[in-house]
Amino acid sequence: MLRIRTMTDADVPLGMALKQQANWNQLEADWRRMLALEPDGCFLAEIDGVGVGTTVACTFGEVAWIAMVLVDERMRGQGVGKALMLHALEFLDQRGVRSTRLDATPLGQPLYAKLGFEVEYTLVRHAGELTAPNDAHGEPSVRIAPAPTWDDLIAFDTTINGTPRGKFLRLLFAEDPAAVRCVAENGRITGYLAVRPGCHALQLGPCLASPEAGPLLLADAWRRYAGQRVLLDVPEQHGEAMALARRMGLQPQRPLVRMCRGPSVGEDVQRLWASSGPELG
Ligand SMILES: CC(C)(COP(=O)(O)OP(=O)(O)OC[C@H]1O[C@@H](n2cnc3c(N)ncnc32)[C@H](O)[C@@H]1OP(=O)(O)O)[C@@H](O)C(=O)NCCC(=O)NCCS
Repeated sequence: MLRIRTMTDADVPLGMALKQQANWNQLEADWRRMLALEPDGCFLAEIDGVGVGTTVACTFGEVAWIAMVLVDERMRGQGVGKALMLHALEFLDQRGVRSTRLDATPLGQPLYAKLGFEVEYTLVRHAGELTAPNDAHGEPSVRIAPAPTWDDLIAFDTTINGTPRGKFLRLLFAEDPAAVRCVAENGRITGYLAVRPGCHALQLGPCLASPEAGPLLLADAWRRYAGQRVLLDVPEQHGEAMALARRMGLQPQRPLVRMCRGPSVGEDVQRLWASSGPELG
């Protein structure tokens, strides 16, 4: 019998096994961050008491993100994914959420389309080992963003992302404060970039920035992480970010389709140089 219940820290090993099966990049820290962000919004599907699937829903006021929709490959095509999604959507309805967003894999997209999600745009996941940059000098205008500036980074992020996702960014920044970099002009933030580890590669992003600050932040990351394996999720329509990813030595790996159910949040895609990954935009 299929049953859906709240996921807890004790279920992280199952979450890790499912994401391993799908060859995703998350670490235990990613699961624990999501559980900390929305303890009542992380769900596990069980068949006869055995865990077979997961979904997490994270609210930011009237906007929510759904992520980690995973079903054990032996149990697919039997309605588990749909049941998890319906459960998460009901949870979000009860919370008064108006717009729910997610980044769909090609396997997930048909399921989400049936549940009323509409395509916004495509992100291209780039992957590979960063080449050595031609210019070995640093970018003097890019500096570490110290903790007292994080509120400014978050306010800047909200104007571009259309979602007040400060509770996520604060946790992410605190995990590795030295990896949070920013550019400011006349004391005002014009861009920032954060990085987090993964089991296959470093995830470079989020990087939200003005047209001037975006290339500086990505060039700074290129130098700092040269020789390392990275992932970079770039909007396909952002020509300059796409070109920069190729110059950094990265190859397009797979598409992620950003979808929304409910009114658009008015994201400014031209100032999105790299998303934070497929979990929270
Ligand atoms: C995507 C995934 C979660 C779907 O789970 P599932 O349990 O197999 O899906 P369901 O059996 O509940 O299918 C629900 C509906 O979507 C449809 N559907 C599901 N996967 C589909 C696919 N790949 N192609 C076409 N339709 C699909 C089903 O036909 C069903 O339609 P119906 O309601 O009209 O009968 C599962 O394939 C998976 O874990 N994939 C690997 C991880 C992944 O990519 N997750 C998505 C992240 S965005």
